[in-house]
Amino acid sequence: MPTKSAKFVQSSVDISKCPPADLPEYAFIGRSNVGKSSLINMLCSKKELAHTSSKPGKTQLINHFIIDDNWYLVDLPGYGYSSVSKTKQEEFEQFVREYLYRRTNLMAVMVLIDSRLPMQPIDKAFMEWLAKADVPFAMVFTKTDKLGKTQLETNLNNYKEAMLQDWEELPTHFITSAEKQVGREEILSFIRSSNSLFKKAI
Ligand code: GTP
Ligand code: MG
Repeated sequence: MPTKSAKFVQSSVDISKCPPADLPEYAFIGRSNVGKSSLINMLCSKKELAHTSSKPGKTQLINHFIIDDNWYLVDLPGYGYSSVSKTKQEEFEQFVREYLYRRTNLMAVMVLIDSRLPMQPIDKAFMEWLAKADVPFAMVFTKTDKLGKTQLETNLNNYKEAMLQDWEELPTHFITSAEKQVGREEILSFIRSSNSLFKKAI
């Protein structure tokens, strides 16, 4: 079932400025330029909901969107963009980590991973941090249209093998292409079944 409505709510500089935590929420994160904003637009079937750019570092704040008036989707800034100064990078780490750690209505973090690349140390470290912090997450492989079928399979197998060196199993994962609209139904049905488990904190 496609989404019916998707509206931008607000951009926040930190967790204290976010909307009330009264609906289930899903945050999208990954290295700069991995395709977060494009994926969000694809999921909501809107071209320009989240701003995309070929230049990394476009998304800077915690951006809330409300979908079908009953769940929040959050576009987070990308991590690991090397031309951002070290101080800026650390500031980012701090406010994003605080948001991920403390946001009570966060049902899952969607960690976007470029399907063309081998496992990147920064993605590995980030997923390890999520697991340690007890933040549930799923992996979303992006830009799969840029690979042939065999290459994609090889890359996914290699990724799985690399993950299994440290993890007991491959976490929930999705194969997507914003360009070719692949993976929308799978992600939306994952979100909808998680929504049914949401309990408002009192
Ligand atoms: P930041 O906000 O800067 O961290 O980037 P982002 O992760 O939001 O990436 P964005 O969606 O802006 O996409 C970056 C570039 O990749 C753009 O040029 C997109 O057109 C391109 N792109 C994103 N998703 C896909 C995809 O599925 N297939 C292809 N071929 N290109 C994609
Ligand atoms: Mg973006």
